[in-house]
Amino acid sequence: MDKLIVTGGNRLDGEIRISGAKNAALPILAATLLAQEPVTICNVPHLHDVTTTMELLGRMGISLVVDERLNIEVDTSTIKNFYAPYELVKTMRASILVLGPLLSRFGEAHVSMPGGCAIGQRPVNIHLDGLKAMGADIRVENGYIIARAERLKGAKIFLEIVSVTATENLMMAATLARGTTVIENAAREPEVEDVAKCLIAMGAKITGAGSSTITIEGVEKLGGAVHRIVPDRIETATYLVAGAVTGGRVKARDTDPKLLEVVLQKLEEAGAEISTGEDWIELDMGGRRPKAVNIHTAPYPAMPTDMQAQFMVLNAVADGASRVVESVFENRFMHVQELLRLGSEIELEGNTALINGVPGLQGAPVMATDLRASACLVLAGLVARGETHISRIYHIDRGYECIEEKLQLLGANIKRVLDRSAV
Ligand code: EPU
Repeated sequence: MDKLIVTGGNRLDGEIRISGAKNAALPILAATLLAQEPVTICNVPHLHDVTTTMELLGRMGISLVVDERLNIEVDTSTIKNFYAPYELVKTMRASILVLGPLLSRFGEAHVSMPGGCAIGQRPVNIHLDGLKAMGADIRVENGYIIARAERLKGAKIFLEIVSVTATENLMMAATLARGTTVIENAAREPEVEDVAKCLIAMGAKITGAGSSTITIEGVEKLGGAVHRIVPDRIETATYLVAGAVTGGRVKARDTDPKLLEVVLQKLEEAGAEISTGEDWIELDMGGRRPKAVNIHTAPYPAMPTDMQAQFMVLNAVADGASRVVESVFENRFMHVQELLRLGSEIELEGNTALINGVPGLQGAPVMATDLRASACLVLAGLVARGETHISRIYHIDRGYECIEEKLQLLGANIKRVLDRSAV
């Protein structure tokens, strides 16, 4: 197993390219199951979760061709089974995204129930209830969701909780259903909109994606398409916060500032100068220490829960006291214990973290517990005095393409080594 060693103290300064969004690439790979002709996906990030999704599709017999520019062509005409095994689903919950497309196109799906998760319970009841409302017969047997339907029928579905992947699963399923489906209280995340764009390019009839009401008029079949994945707003924001905590300057290219309004507002409140163009964002902290900012996570367009851990680091070293409220997941504070080991002052009260900013952190060995927690520990390492050794970094490879190379380009002192204590 690898670990990252970060030697803190360098002020980041430079420019990096932002990859395609993980959380759009995964549902879009699943959406290709709906198409009768090959679909080509461009700007796919090179991530472990993408490889897992490709393996999941490959095991169903689907043919995937990756060209030299990392565009992926998916051809489902060779599909042999409708099965998502536990051994893959347990490593990536987003595997549940194959359920809606498989059921809708082939009338059958056999998908392992996702197991536990480090950030909260994360049940899938909303996915299953929505599919049942569309006429699916669903039971759970020996840890597997067994779903069947002759042809799904359109339905009016109100999501009890705003859920990103449930919105995507139901929207994908509805594209081939008989009649019209209306999803109310739908997730408005840009990744949901990107999935809809790809489905529309495949011939689906969808309106309202990106708003809280999505209407899908079922069609008989979907065909081929070429789709380019939207830039990763969370990756973008993570590098901007990295710039902010080190007092530095970071320019993110090939991104979209319109997807990051609240994040940019918070960074300005923290004292950063932000400039933007059509596809770039530049943050300049001018050597200043960030000011503490209060954070309250909620579904898009509010502050993303996927940025909570990174802003926790900013507040940990900021001037002043702040409060971070996590309202999406019930257990997404695992990184706090690790930040305490680096000398931060944070108290937890239920879903709220009370942070007293300290002038500096000290390096220490820490352990990553989930994807965004590992990003937060890397950011903490960039400001900590001395070396921070971060183990269990397989989490970070699930969602950040070439993180150490990108940080090195910005001037960070970071290297990946074999973790001898873990072999
Ligand atoms: N929920 C239920 N029942 C359901 C589904 C969700 O109670 O059937 C609850 C969850 O437990 C949670 C809330 O609803 O408390 C919202 O969760 P959501 O379903 O929106 O999360 P998700 O779709 O499983 C996606 C992202 C996450 C991101 C969340 C919130 C993908 C593949 N994953 O997860 O990304 O944190 O939305 O924005 O899109 C990450 O990238 O690090 C990550 C965890």
